Order: sequence, then structure tokens, then C-alpha cells
Amino acid sequence: AGNRTFTMIKPDAFGAGNSGAILKMIEEAGFKIVAMKATQLTPELAGKFYAVHKERPFYADLCKYMSSGPIIAAILEKENAVEDFRTLIGATNPANAAEGTIRKIFATSIEANAVHGSDSDENAEIEGNFYFSQLERVR
Ligand code: CMP
Repeated sequence: AGNRTFTMIKPDAFGAGNSGAILKMIEEAGFKIVAMKATQLTPELAGKFYAVHKERPFYADLCKYMSSGPIIAAILEKENAVEDFRTLIGATNPANAAEGTIRKIFATSIEANAVHGSDSDENAEIEGNFYFSQLERVR
């Protein structure tokens, strides 16, 4: 049981062959996989997913980057999922990420930062629904 968060393993980490190592860290931290798929966004879909950032200076680059290669999207479940997952992945900028966090280990820049993690329960629900139907979930 517990509540849910949503993650993407981004093109940099997927392309470097780090998906398995990242998923192992996620499972070892106690998260259960509720839904998961490999896919590739179009720039338009990346723009829709990150619409909340559309006024930010990095938005155009982010949409291009997030559609540049395959990703893994997943819904994860754990007690206190959103906050605990953000602790596991570390700060957005890997230069500021704590030792042992996924971004510290795998990210290459503030943009190519290995993984996404939802910032609230509400956004976790919206982001999970962006990728997954009810039939694509474990329960
Ligand atoms: P993410 O947690 O997926 O949310 C927004 C993404 O925008 C972020 O991770 C980074 O990949 C990217 N990004 C690029 N530049 C910045 C920035 N200056 N501040 C925040 N996010 C950025």
C-alpha cells in the first residue's frame, strides 16, 4: 500500500544503459512498480507533459531533449512516495545533489538529469494518467 509517484528515466540515462541500475536503486529503496513502459516522446508530447514550465527559458530545449531518445515511464508506490522519491533522486541540478542519490550518480547536467520525479501527489496523478490507462496498471 502507500501512495504513488511518477518517474521517467530520461534519454541520457536510458541511452547510457543505466535504466537497470536506476530501477534497482528504486526497488531497493522500497518502491513497488505499478506501471512501466519504454517509449519515446514527440516534441509536442514533451511540450504537453512539461506545459507547467512553458514560460521558463529552458522549456524549448527541454522539449527537444526529452524527445531525443527513448525513455522509461513508470508509476511507483510507497509510503510517502513523492517526498521519498525526491530524496532518492536528489536535487534537480546534479552539482547540488547529495552523495548516493540517483542524479549524483547518473546525471550529466541540469537538463540531462537522469530521472524525473513528481513534485506533488496531484502532479503524480496527472503525470501517471498522461502515460497509462487503468488496464496498463498492476492494480
Ligand atoms: P524535471 O524534474 O524533469 O523537471 C523539469 C526539467 O527541466 C528538469 O527536471 C530538467 O531536466 C530541466 N531543466 C533544465 N534546466 C533547468 C533549470 N534551470 N531549472 C529546472 N529544470 C531545468
